Amino acid sequence: MRKKIVAGNWKMNKTLQEGVALAKELKEALAADAPNCDVVICTPFIHLASVAAEIEGSVIGLGAENCADKASGAYTGEVSAAMVESTGAKYVILGHSERRAYYHETPEILKEKINLALENNLKVIFCIGEVLEEREEGRQNDVVKAQLEGSLFDLTAEQYKNIILAYEPVWAIGTGKTATADQAEEMHAFIRSVIAEKFGNEAAEETSILYGGSCKPGNAKEIFAKANVDGGLIGGAALKVADFKGIIDAWK
Ligand code: 13P
Repeated sequence: MRKKIVAGNWKMNKTLQEGVALAKELKEALAADAPNCDVVICTPFIHLASVAAEIEGSVIGLGAENCADKASGAYTGEVSAAMVESTGAKYVILGHSERRAYYHETPEILKEKINLALENNLKVIFCIGEVLEEREEGRQNDVVKAQLEGSLFDLTAEQYKNIILAYEPVWAIGTGKTATADQAEEMHAFIRSVIAEKFGNEAAEETSILYGGSCKPGNAKEIFAKANVDGGLIGGAALKVADFKGIIDAWK
């Protein structure tokens, strides 16, 4: 059975102190009321080591929001997958639409990042999704398929086992305009069929596919109820424990 996961993406929010306090509050809330799914928080690099210490022994998994496409060396300002792993983090988000759009990350760059993340025993939460114009033109399936092919199709079956997918329609991110549960299900089923064609039915059935984009306590239950939706990748609502916990509780 594939894993149900609710993962938070803090993006560029919270000072170190605020981030540690948020992690502590979440840890306490989940200790008082255990989740029915895996819970992961992905934080800015500088938070990782401190948050790892704060959540040690809890049910919460930790991830980064990015890593470098180089192993080490003279790349000022970059943070490698090995450095991420050394903090205690177990996951890394790669391919987020904000990184593709604002930092010009191409499928080739993402391939390098994915390889380095996997070499360093990180599970990759790989994001895919179309922009509004592509959906309006009915091209969303082609776009998402190309994103999968462009960065994942050189992986071995063994490597692919450490990939979690997140479908995040760009028009739904931070806009308050969520995909309908039916739109999410339709795309998730398509994604699973693309994975089945390449990696086989069993691998496709084992793949957790998360939905992201204005997911809130009020809509999570309906979206998560769909057969091919295995959880959420949560931005804004991951910054408040009450909201994030509300989404986690959608699995109950
Ligand atoms: P929002 O939940 O703020 O729309 O962000 C979604 C997202 O981009 C998670 O990676």
